[in-house]
Amino acid sequence: MFNFISKNQFIFNYRRMWPFIKPYWFRALLGILLTIPAGSLDAVIAAFLKPITDNVLVAKDVEFSRALPFIIIGFTLLQSVLNYAATYVNAWVGSKISLGLKWHLYDKLLSMDPIYFDQRSSGEIILRYSNDAELATGGLVANLKLFLTKFFSSLGLVGVMLYNSWQLSIIALGIFVLAVYPVKLVKRKIKDVTTKTVGATANFLTIYNETFSGNKIINSFTLEETFRGKFDQTLKFLFRLSIKLTQGGGWLSPLLHFIGSLGLALVLGLGTNLIVTETITPGNFIAFIGAMMMLYTPLKSIGTNYVKVQMSFLAIDRIFDILNAEPKIKSHDGAVTLETIREGLECRKVFFSYVPERPVLRDVSLKISVGQTVALVGNSGGGKTTIGSLLPRLYEVDRGEILIDGVNIKDYTLESLRRNIAIVFQDNFLFSGTIRDNLQMGNPEATEEDMWQALAAANLDQFIKTSEKGLDTVVGERGILLSGGQKQRVAIARAFIKNAPLVILDEATSALDNKAEKVVQEALEKLMKDRTVIVIAHRLSTIQSADNILVVNDGRIVEQGNHEELMARQGAYYALYATRFVDGQDQDSPTDESNSHTSDAPPQAMNAE
Ligand SMILES: Nc1ncnc2c1ncn2[C@@H]1O[C@H](COP(=O)(O)OP(=O)(O)O)[C@@H](O)[C@H]1O
Ligand SMILES: [Mg+2]
Repeated sequence: MFNFISKNQFIFNYRRMWPFIKPYWFRALLGILLTIPAGSLDAVIAAFLKPITDNVLVAKDVEFSRALPFIIIGFTLLQSVLNYAATYVNAWVGSKISLGLKWHLYDKLLSMDPIYFDQRSSGEIILRYSNDAELATGGLVANLKLFLTKFFSSLGLVGVMLYNSWQLSIIALGIFVLAVYPVKLVKRKIKDVTTKTVGATANFLTIYNETFSGNKIINSFTLEETFRGKFDQTLKFLFRLSIKLTQGGGWLSPLLHFIGSLGLALVLGLGTNLIVTETITPGNFIAFIGAMMMLYTPLKSIGTNYVKVQMSFLAIDRIFDILNAEPKIKSHDGAVTLETIREGLECRKVFFSYVPERPVLRDVSLKISVGQTVALVGNSGGGKTTIGSLLPRLYEVDRGEILIDGVNIKDYTLESLRRNIAIVFQDNFLFSGTIRDNLQMGNPEATEEDMWQALAAANLDQFIKTSEKGLDTVVGERGILLSGGQKQRVAIARAFIKNAPLVILDEATSALDNKAEKVVQEALEKLMKDRTVIVIAHRLSTIQSADNILVVNDGRIVEQGNHEELMARQGAYYALYATRFVDGQDQDSPTDESNSHTSDAPPQAMNAE
């Protein structure tokens, strides 16, 4: 039976899965051992057909015929119990292996760089990190049991056949060889379809996720029809693929059935001859036919199972693609710990692009001494947020270097580097759970007192105090139960609790009304005190009080200096200032992601986030 799956492929896949099977090897072995008697009993039943025919039907042995029902019931009962035990042990081992795989995959997922996530959809992540683990073990374990049971049952049945008539055995077994070629053909067809199915299923899952996250946009823009269409298309594509899979492998079962019947016809024809010439007894003949039919039944089911096994092997391929991938951003050997920042930070001629050939930062150099506040201003899409992301090595520079206290940040351990930097992002993400849970993400050891202090600094203590559940107020998935300003202040409090010497603030006060903005602004100012701060600034007050202002346009720093110096120069900053603040307007124009502003064409806004 094993010939139907290329032996090498079979061994290869079990070998690389071994580390995940190893912890449960004893039960796995037990599961395999149980399949031996469960499978072999088929042969016993077939072998019984001979005495039944010869002693009962032909010789009319009454004693034997009375005992017969009990013998049959006894054997089948034993077989059923063994089968159940094998199923149970295999399910247990299978679940454990699949959980182990998921654990290792998730661990890998956490170590991946942001760029890995940028390039993938949520659907693909769920599919490849969770579903594939089930597909792999499900196919592997279920089929291991099936194949082993059938293998031992086949061994026994072939023995019964040989015992009863070697002449007929040659014919029956010869027919098996005919079946090998079509089985091999299927393998090639499945791979292509499966790869496409993975992609389509990932899209499918992403639609669910987007429908969930974007439900308000869908409602308010009345996008129901669009999404219905998108979903329908994916469904239709998946349907076509599943039909292709059937076309690729579904004909195997009927074909094997046909080949099997061919063998049966030949055996029947020749068998009668052998009985007439008294080469074999009628009992031999019946037992032989019984064994042969039992042998062909699993052969037919191989058609369906073969597709499943191949699909599980492909899932294993995908899993090991992930497990063997190494994140690009990690601590290198000999990296040192960054205790705290003593002197300052410097970017030297930094170049960066998210996508090859599309430069985002070009020749960015800047210097910040400890305790200073530097403001980044400039047109939207200019690269301010990107500069902030490079410091904790969320992305890696293409060229140039970033130094902290004169040492390249790549030479610090990733963990210690990131411990020294607190970021308040533009779009703040809160995790499902309570205010307390979210604050503790800033520092797991934070005490109750630390938390209240941070909340006070973030101007959020009044709100939390008046909430019925206090620190245990639930924020909802993505913080959906809080207002924009409250969410942002929780994020600021989280950064406070982290108490890192370098703070990066991506101001997003534009999303807030004037009152909320003022409260958040006060919170930010408290966070900035006594720390080294890089602030992507919106508000004139923040910009004016900064020690140094850098104007970032189209990925370059086109000007720097303090407010007075830059105003006196009447350059890019002056132009920004004029368009944005002269009429007293402190709000943003619509987001402009076109990245087309240059320093000589005054942008419409200081920042349009
Ligand atoms: N994760 C990303 N993948 C690819 N391109 C990105 C990514 N994030 C930002 N960009 C692009 O990089 C440029 C700079 O973006 P960003 O640093 O966010 O600008 P700013 O913060 O100044 O508005 C933009 O053109 C933007 O489209
Ligand atoms: Mg930005």
